[in-house]
Amino acid sequence: MPWVRIQPSGTEFEVFDGEAVAEAAWRQGHGWPTQCWGQADCMSCFTRILDGELCALPAEQDELDAVSLKMSPQLRSNHLIRLGCRLRCVGDGLVLEKQGFRPADRTGEDTADPAGPPPPSPGAEARAEPGRT
Ligand code: FES
Repeated sequence: MPWVRIQPSGTEFEVFDGEAVAEAAWRQGHGWPTQCWGQADCMSCFTRILDGELCALPAEQDELDAVSLKMSPQLRSNHLIRLGCRLRCVGDGLVLEKQGFRPADRTGEDTADPAGPPPPSPGAEARAEPGRT
């Protein structure tokens, strides 16, 4: 299972095959900025690839369309800028910069997003970890 590292926090987490990086972050309790929860609408999830570009699958048409329509010319001209809710990866070592990313609290301190938890993404049950109920 691929892992990614998010800078500047240095947080690493795993991403299921076929899962977008932002979806993986939300599933594991991390805070990844969003307003549309993965609908390729808000652009809040955009991230910049710092390293491991070859691990990133190419953008699909829905990401290209959203970026073309909604992102500033400066950002959309940079091929290393991707939507976290669409960015999928293969292999280990994708390193991303994401301002506003908040690592999941592993000490029990309450860092819940005031907007509440994300809704389940389509197909989330099919991607559930084996052995988990
Ligand atoms: S989460 Fe809104 S565009 Fe990606």
